[in-house]
Amino acid sequence: MNKPSILVARAIFPEVLQSLAQVFEVESNQADEVWSAAELTRRMQGKVGALTTGSERIDTALLQANPQLRIVANMAVGFNNFDVPAMTAAGVVASNTPDVLTETTADFGFALLMATARRITESEHFLRAGQWTKWSYDMFAGAEVHGSTIGIIGMGRIGQGIARRAAHGFGMNVIYHNRSRLSAELEAECKASYVSKEELLKTADHVVLVVPYSAESHHTIGAAELAQMKSTATLVNIARGGIVDDAALAKALAARQIAAAGIDVFEGEPSVHPGLLKVPNVVLTPHIASATIKTRRAMAQLAADNLMEFFTKGQAVTPLNTVAGRTA
Ligand code: DGY
Repeated sequence: MNKPSILVARAIFPEVLQSLAQVFEVESNQADEVWSAAELTRRMQGKVGALTTGSERIDTALLQANPQLRIVANMAVGFNNFDVPAMTAAGVVASNTPDVLTETTADFGFALLMATARRITESEHFLRAGQWTKWSYDMFAGAEVHGSTIGIIGMGRIGQGIARRAAHGFGMNVIYHNRSRLSAELEAECKASYVSKEELLKTADHVVLVVPYSAESHHTIGAAELAQMKSTATLVNIARGGIVDDAALAKALAARQIAAAGIDVFEGEPSVHPGLLKVPNVVLTPHIASATIKTRRAMAQLAADNLMEFFTKGQAVTPLNTVAGRTA
């Protein structure tokens, strides 16, 4: 019997590709070329499944050009690159990779918060540039982390991971804002208090964004929100580009309206707003919050398992939608 054909749209771990090749006829992109939407649509021809990352957009045009497609497995927990309602309407299963990256991403959120508050990259650049000629009492004096107030916007699994690190590891006062309030049990475990967004912005010493991207969360932080924050506050975005208005942030940082920011995700990435590249009080990283070998391997394997289980058992492991009458 012919194996089903799938597309692996980006380079992944060779051993994961090998496990897919046991079950599927695989066209892969181990050269990791950046494909245009037209090229991705063309490569999808004849494929019943695909493994994508957050960079590949699955939309109505691609779905209409590929009516044979039955499942697309995203190697990411975020899925704003998927038009899930269009996929459901087209009878295409969508899946993501929750849980396997939660703690690793929370670690990174904390690392970025620490680097931002304690001015680690800014001071390293100064040292590497040969500018360190003497020690002085206020050299790169930053903001306190332990004992301060952290405000977390988006209290899903990763937000809760950050809250636990903050409360239990750093004795921080944890406040959060979320679409829905956590159960009393989870709030107690995270030692977190629910507040309005306005209250959070006014009170937090460190604001951390972990909210999923959607039309409603677009520019959760813009000029008006930055104006509500303390002038000593830091802002960390490990959620998605577009959650922060990057142009407004660059302006606020240049004007020292807030003290500093740590940004891992950008509007229009891999392009970065030129204003952010100019200001010293921002730590910039290239969307690496889940990037440890162990976690990236687990994400790739879970995406592969979604494809394999769908075609061998009729059910994806971590589906995002329910597609009536669509089993393999
Ligand atoms: C995720 O899993 O959503 C990360 O941001 C990687 O894309």
